[in-house]
Amino acid sequence: MRVGVIGTGRVGLVTGACLSSLGHEVTCMDADEAKVATLREGRTPFHEPELDDLVRRGTDDASLIFVDSVGAAVKGADVVMICVGRPPVGADDRSLSAVEEAARAVARDAEQGVVVVVKSTVPPGTSGHVAHAMGSERPDLACSVVSSPEFLREGHAVADTLRPERIVVGADDDRGRQIVEQLYAPLVRAGHRLVRTDPRTAELAKLASNAFLATKVSFANGLARVAELAGADGRRGDRDHGHGPPDRAGVPRRGPRLRRPTACRRTS
Ligand SMILES: NC(=O)c1ccc[n+]([C@@H]2O[C@H](COP(=O)([O-])OP(=O)(O)OC[C@H]3O[C@@H](n4cnc5c(N)ncnc54)[C@H](O)[C@@H]3O)[C@@H](O)[C@H]2O)c1
Repeated sequence: MRVGVIGTGRVGLVTGACLSSLGHEVTCMDADEAKVATLREGRTPFHEPELDDLVRRGTDDASLIFVDSVGAAVKGADVVMICVGRPPVGADDRSLSAVEEAARAVARDAEQGVVVVVKSTVPPGTSGHVAHAMGSERPDLACSVVSSPEFLREGHAVADTLRPERIVVGADDDRGRQIVEQLYAPLVRAGHRLVRTDPRTAELAKLASNAFLATKVSFANGLARVAELAGADGRRGDRDHGHGPPDRAGVPRRGPRLRRPTACRRTS
């Protein structure tokens, strides 16, 4: 399939490189021209295990290309994935301006029947907002908007994309769902779990995942503080005698507390 990726940060670049390795033709676009130039030179702007190899292989066989205009990314694309970030915390935490701006730009240049996948982390209901924005930008465009949130971990991004614990596809229409399932078909054939739902529930699943992770980090930090005061081994107390093996939240340890930024993290 032909795939356009809008936003070539960690999520967009890893998604694009992995999809090209699965046999799709991928065009990655970013508004940051310097980033696009770096990628065209074969350099990746951050480190992720396996990523450099995937990008090199994709660019060598031309299944992965980098462009700096939305038009070039969406021309002829069956699927366009929106992977842009959000404004920095403190500027306007709740603003979805980047996602909406990307969606409107996609609408202007997209082919009839395009399927737009929102991979950015967004509040429940955003896919509907994206569909509305695209419709007001280009009323004649027939398109489907599907939510497929990203669950990758930094430092494990390629492994989490090619060997995901689950793939969530939230669609309201059959055609959009079928096209996105085709996109992920090689992963499903390899035995990875695909969860079908509606867009709002898919967006909520990502919110729930982040909130649960934040809860686990807070729990681990609290236990680490108690361990520090008591002179106990917080790692063993939690993992071996508490709630089981370490998971994505990490385990408490003595010394500096785990740090992971979340929108609601208390600083005191
Ligand atoms: N990084 C992670 O581990 C991770 C994991 C899961 C989900 N997410 C979510 O995925 C989304 C992307 O995350 P990221 O870490 O890749 O962000 P990022 O900030 O590293 O990259 C976003 C990219 O989008 C580009 N961009 C912004 N607006 C654009 C536009 N209108 N058109 C084209 N390009 C545009 C930026 O130049 C940037 O290169 C966010 O919503 C994030 O919350 C991130």
